Amino acid sequence: MRNEVLSYDVIVIGGGLAGLMTSLGVTGSQKLALFSKVHPLRSHSLAAQGGLNAALGNVPGSADDSWEKHTFDTIKGSDYLADQDAVEIMCRMGPEVVYELEHWGVPFSRTPECKIAQRPFGGADYPRTCYATDRTGHVLLHTLYEQSCRKNVEVFSEWLVTSLVIEDNQVQGIIALHYESGEVRAFSARVVVFATGGYGRVYGNSTNALINTGSGIAVAYRAGVPIKDLEFVQFHPTTLYGTNILITEGARGEGGILVNNKGERFMKRYAEKLMELAPRDIVSRSMTTEILEGFGFENAYLHLDLRHLGREKIMERLPGICDIAIDFAGVDPVKEPIPVQPGQHYSMGGIDTNEKGETKIRGLYAAGECACVSVHGANRLGGNSLLETVVFGKIVSTHLREFLKSQGDTRDASFLDKALEKEKQRIEELLKRKGERRYTEIRDELRRVMFADVGIFRKEEELRRACEVVQRLKRDYRDVSVRHKSRYFNFELINVLELEGMLDLADIISRGALARRESRGSHFRTDYPKRDDPNWLRHTLATFTPNGPEFDYKEVKITRYAPQERKY
Ligand code: FUM
Repeated sequence: MRNEVLSYDVIVIGGGLAGLMTSLGVTGSQKLALFSKVHPLRSHSLAAQGGLNAALGNVPGSADDSWEKHTFDTIKGSDYLADQDAVEIMCRMGPEVVYELEHWGVPFSRTPECKIAQRPFGGADYPRTCYATDRTGHVLLHTLYEQSCRKNVEVFSEWLVTSLVIEDNQVQGIIALHYESGEVRAFSARVVVFATGGYGRVYGNSTNALINTGSGIAVAYRAGVPIKDLEFVQFHPTTLYGTNILITEGARGEGGILVNNKGERFMKRYAEKLMELAPRDIVSRSMTTEILEGFGFENAYLHLDLRHLGREKIMERLPGICDIAIDFAGVDPVKEPIPVQPGQHYSMGGIDTNEKGETKIRGLYAAGECACVSVHGANRLGGNSLLETVVFGKIVSTHLREFLKSQGDTRDASFLDKALEKEKQRIEELLKRKGERRYTEIRDELRRVMFADVGIFRKEEELRRACEVVQRLKRDYRDVSVRHKSRYFNFELINVLELEGMLDLADIISRGALARRESRGSHFRTDYPKRDDPNWLRHTLATFTPNGPEFDYKEVKITRYAPQERKY
């Protein structure tokens, strides 16, 4: 099998919820392979806690909820940057997909009447987040993985996809590196789907798994695929002080409150009506303001207080949070407040797709966090990311089947052969490099500068500084050597390969943020504190050039909801 090019109809890259959902929609009818950097059950979807949104109207106070109200909340939450046709599709399909997941065996928490339980989440007018205690991602991932085993999905675990081969605007296949053997191989496909997750680890202080380097987005970018709205980075309000492990928004949905060092429930001064359940961009900015003004603890964190909920409710609804707080901060939430601070959490931007998950390349699709459809615009509502993965995974599988039926097979094996030789040479050269720099120094400096200067509050001077640092780090990268030369499980090589992509993404984020002279959702410029619809109600597109990203802009699709001021 060594030099043989394996050929598939469809290659899905990513074993999280979006990748599994896409695979389940095509398996049986097409020859399919799923590639993942890790075993699918170690995908970052596993870490999702609080739940997924769907207007089921199952709990008191939500009887008149509807997909239209979910759509409006999402668009308002996005600060009107989301494409409204795509948001409508997602919210309309929410209930159907949640019931499908239930039928596949997802053990959702239940109401006393045995309906799927729902809890309040930020920026939503109704309690519509369906959950399984605070381990929703875990149970969803296990259920979808079980289904993929039942359907014999062929999985290539622990393969890093290093390049995407496109010729004449048509997908030809991928090149991937096998961790165990160090082998670099080409795989031919008529359709490739990226479902590779976000780029959280380009930042310091992130809730994301270490695998979330944005490698898929970076590979697509290098292959010439436009990347959309990357400057919109979500900071989750409540991450555990010290480790930045996620403390679910469900904790506030269940009644948890945020308190400063004066014992004050300060959110009443920032979002009078929704308080702790205002959207994440607003809560994270409010918390950062409190800390900067001296109302934090140790100038670094605030308190999330759950004590008034009582042991029984805490243990029933938030058992995972209890474990995390006890194990990683030595704090029992039944008895003490949890120390929390905002941390990087989610990537609103990603590979530019339309509402079918199609990119501008024939046969190339993207779904989930690596994609920018865009259903989250400038700020995502909690509970909409899990929904996006399953809805758009399903949609992509439907459209790619139609694509395969309607298009002939135009692959030419010689393109893959050439690309494979080039990739092998690139990796060999990297292994032979004699440079002085370690990848860890560059990666750690990158993370520091991105969090400090392209973070929750941004301004010209700091953004310029970040852009310069990223340029310098890109130059320094050329001087990085791989000291460990073995081909087997060479994680130093893998980290070095991924760092190049992280630098590319940081370049796009920082330059995009510098260019956008307004404040919208998660992108808050202290020097341009107002939203500027006449000039900036548009998506950013970044395309690869050897000298860095080239920027262009495109219109936002507005269907029913004219932009208004966002008040909570
Ligand atoms: O807070 C949380 O449980 C995270 C949910 C989300 O990012 O959607």
